[in-house]
Formats: sequence, structure tokens, C-alpha cells
Amino acid sequence: MTQVYLHPEIGDYFVEYDFAEVAGSPCDGGPADLRRQVMQDYVGEKCILLRNVRIDYDQDFISKVSFPPTWYFKKFPSKVVERDKPLAKSDAKKALCRDLFAGDAGLFHRFEGEVRAVNSGIRRVLDELLRHHRTSATDIIWRHTETRVENLHFDIDKDSADFESVRLYLNMDDIPRIWHTSHQLSQIVPHYYETLELAALRDQPLETLLQVLSLRLFGNWASRGREQFPRHMVLFEPGDVWICDGRTVPHQVIYGRRVASSFYRLDSAALPPWHPSLASKVEAMHAAQAAGAEGAAEGLKGYAYPFGPGGPKPPKGVTHPDLKNDWDKLYEDSIQPRLVRL
Ligand SMILES: [Fe+2]
Repeated sequence: MTQVYLHPEIGDYFVEYDFAEVAGSPCDGGPADLRRQVMQDYVGEKCILLRNVRIDYDQDFISKVSFPPTWYFKKFPSKVVERDKPLAKSDAKKALCRDLFAGDAGLFHRFEGEVRAVNSGIRRVLDELLRHHRTSATDIIWRHTETRVENLHFDIDKDSADFESVRLYLNMDDIPRIWHTSHQLSQIVPHYYETLELAALRDQPLETLLQVLSLRLFGNWASRGREQFPRHMVLFEPGDVWICDGRTVPHQVIYGRRVASSFYRLDSAALPPWHPSLASKVEAMHAAQAAGAEGAAEGLKGYAYPFGPGGPKPPKGVTHPDLKNDWDKLYEDSIQPRLVRL
């Protein structure tokens, strides 16, 4: 199970639940209902490990499927494969069969079965956890290309004030997936409220606040790996399942190869009374600041950040002009048989 190397200046927000106990707890929405506790921890900016989740699939087969290192396969929307439409009638499936299996329909059908097995295992967990919620979208992303050193960031979802997202992860690799995480949003906002003039963002879309905080505190893709913020280090073992709201817990993948993750969206109009939306929480943060709340959160130190003169810069001559279009080239360039300075 997961190993966490805690940074002494960051709160310990890691918690764990036994999934069998969650499923066996009273489903009444009361304090003893562990579904409620898990989701309140999720809203409470915790990183939640779920023990004893069993998802059976042919890991040996999946581990041999080579996903091209392209932008499309970086976050592969697996719903295409889950759909009932037969291969012969689906252009999307034909393209996958060509790209992943050189046109071998037998292998593609086997893959289809494994995607359904994994996704239904993930959906079973989420259906249980979200028995008090109404979902409006249930996407599952397969990220089976190698990820090396992302920049630290909050997740940016378009129109994120309109829904609550739920991200659950399953490490499908046979090695750990390594993350860094940092101070939670509710710590960061008051601490940097004045310095970053966050009051000006009160009427902007919620994702703008998350984007501004990510860029100005942690830097961008070009300064990745040079973040000045303190970070916890987490090793999610093969088979680990965890949920964590990337909109409130800043995170970066340091290394990972195969993960499936949900991007469920919850209907904000039908949230249980104990589940405040992120939009309402952020509005409360603005209101508290407007009412003169103390800025600096305890334990959060001011670190050098990228917009300062001493901010981290990439080596001279290194530029990353267009991540989306140049993704495969950037990847190829980073794994040369020589010393590569990024
Ligand atoms: Fe993320």
C-alpha cells in the first residue's frame, strides 16, 4: 500500500478507508455512513486511500499494449472502447485497433473486454461512494503513456463552478506511481490573498483562480521540476486506489506509466447538505477576506515563487512552444542517449 514521505511544513491530509467497511456502513447519510465521511474528506481537501478494492483484469495483457506517446493517448477517453458499437461500425474503434494493435481485431476485442472489466470495477467503487449524489458525467480516462515530471498544478476544469468533479485513480502499472502534493487550496488562498490580488478574481470563473495560483506560485511547464514549494512525496503502489480533488490539492506526477482515473461530474443542484460545492467554499474564502480575516495560514511559509526575480528558469535555449502539437517530439527529445537538460 501507499507510502508517504511527509514534508514537515505541510499538513498531513492523507487518510485511508477499508472499502468493504464503507460498503457495509449504514447508507443513511448520517455520521456513521462512511460514504459521507469519505466524500466529506474529499471536499475537505484530503487524499484518500481506499484499501481492499479488488479490480480483476488481465494485467499481463494490458502491460504489453503500447500506447503511442501522443497528446491523444496522454489522456485516452476510454468510453470509446466501452460503447457497444461493433468494431466494423465504429471509426473510433477502427482507429484504435490500427494504432494499438496494427489492425489485429482479435487483440482489439480482448482489449475491449479488459477496458470494460477495469472500468466497471472503478464504476462499482464510485457508485458505492456516490450513493447520495447524482452524476451528470461518468468518464474514465486511461493514461497509459509514460509521464515524467509534470509541473505542480491545481486541476483546471472548464466551467468548474457548474459541477463537482470526482477523480479516482487506479495504478495499473507494476511499479509505483510517484506524486508530489503541496499545501491545500484553503491554506494557499488566505496566505497569498493580498500578494496575488486574488480579490480581483472574485467574479471571474472559478478555474481562473486555480490557473492563476498554479502559474504564479508553482510556475508553468517550462519551470517544472524546479518548483520552490515544499511538497509531500507519495508512492502509490501497483493496484492502489485513491481519490483526491486536484482542484484543491496541488499535485504533480513525478513518474508514472499506467493509470486509469475517473472524471465523474456531480450535479451541483443535487448535492447532499453536507457536501458544499467548491464554488461556495471559494466564495466563503473571498467573503472572509473581505471581512478582514487574517491572511497568513499557520505553517505556510512564503517561498520564492516564479514571478519573483529569483524564480526558477529553464536552461538557456530551452523552450516549449506548443505542448499539444509538439507533445510526441518533446517526449522523444527528453529521452536521448545523452545528458538532457530540461
Ligand atoms: Fe492534475
